[in-house]
Amino acid sequence: MAQQVRGVVARAKGEPVRIETVVVPDPGPGEAVVKVQACGVCHTDLHYREGGINDEFPFLLGHEAAGVVESVGEGVTEVAPGDYVILNWRAVCGQCRACKRGRPQYCFATHNAKQKMTLTDGTELAPALGIGAFAEKTLVAAGQCTKVDPAASPAAAGLLGCGVMAGLGAAINTGGVGRGDSVAVIGCGGVGNAAVVGARLAGAAKIIAVDIDDRKLETARGLGATDTVNSRSSDPIEAIRELTGGFGADVVIEAVGRPETYEQAFYARDLAGTVVLVGVPTPEMRIDLPLLDVFGRGGALKSSWYGDCLPSRDFPMLIDLYRQGRLDLDAFVTETIALDEVEKAFERMHHGDVLRSVVVF
Ligand code: APR
Ligand code: ZN
Ligand code: ZN
Repeated sequence: MAQQVRGVVARAKGEPVRIETVVVPDPGPGEAVVKVQACGVCHTDLHYREGGINDEFPFLLGHEAAGVVESVGEGVTEVAPGDYVILNWRAVCGQCRACKRGRPQYCFATHNAKQKMTLTDGTELAPALGIGAFAEKTLVAAGQCTKVDPAASPAAAGLLGCGVMAGLGAAINTGGVGRGDSVAVIGCGGVGNAAVVGARLAGAAKIIAVDIDDRKLETARGLGATDTVNSRSSDPIEAIRELTGGFGADVVIEAVGRPETYEQAFYARDLAGTVVLVGVPTPEMRIDLPLLDVFGRGGALKSSWYGDCLPSRDFPMLIDLYRQGRLDLDAFVTETIALDEVEKAFERMHHGDVLRSVVVF
């Protein structure tokens, strides 16, 4: 029997979101209905509401979530009712060329639920990133559910579903930070500060946090940054070189998504260093670098999508680290809010004093 729940819906471009009644069908083959316990507010949700992703309104927002599986459809073996799970928006297929070559992070197929959740008048909802978890319950593909230790608080666990995983993975998976490395992180919001934590977990000896906001730098220091640079008051390229004996950092992570900060990352790395772009640029952004400078430096220019994560490998491992007190996910939960406060959380995003607002149910 289909169920009716409350959910946060964006009806039209630029309009404030509203709580609506959402109809959640019973799970079909390969699907699961999850009772959501917490869901973080991510920039991507705001981009959906602003029409920056696509025009398939109305959207059911929310995609950074943890909850409990309520029911599963035919043929589901990955999870069972009662399992505590983190939802992911990159369920891999195991069949395509990328999966078969052992690079499932680049899987060509994205598995979401086949059925649609709707409004009460039958209008189909487009769930944000195939999840739609600003709702008491949501319908997803079973492969989007990763079972983790139920002792982890939902507000913290859910964060691994998007932004915090992106930052941790940019350092650990994409950047390949190793013991003793020097790492610089440009932009210390939720994603960049997670990269700081990732660099610390990976054993970096020096972690240089760069931001234009001293409050963010203070948070970065608390999370393990060994040095901080306010790039409003000093040249970050010079500062990073100075802090690394004149060489530049082994890994520089760009977590803003702007041409000028990418350029800083490019020149602040060691000649053989790695640049990781995890900040998301807009389509019109361009960089203009002398090709000779690209040629004259070895290393690697990489981008990191969802932190190159493999949910089934990374989520349980990171939750274990969290449970052991080695990964402070709680530090990213600036505030917990109710479902009807998502619009307010969008406004607060612009003020720069929030790493994550998390809806708890
Ligand atoms: N130099 C350094 N830091 C900057 C600059 C700049 N020119 N401009 C902005 N910042 C800092 C902000 O002060 C803030 O601390 O970058 C940080 C961005 O953080 P958030 O807005 O909280 O964004 P976050 O959630 O961390 O995401 C960062 O990654 O996933 C993408 O879409 C996301 O592009 C975004 C980026
Ligand atoms: Zn695949
Ligand atoms: Zn997100």
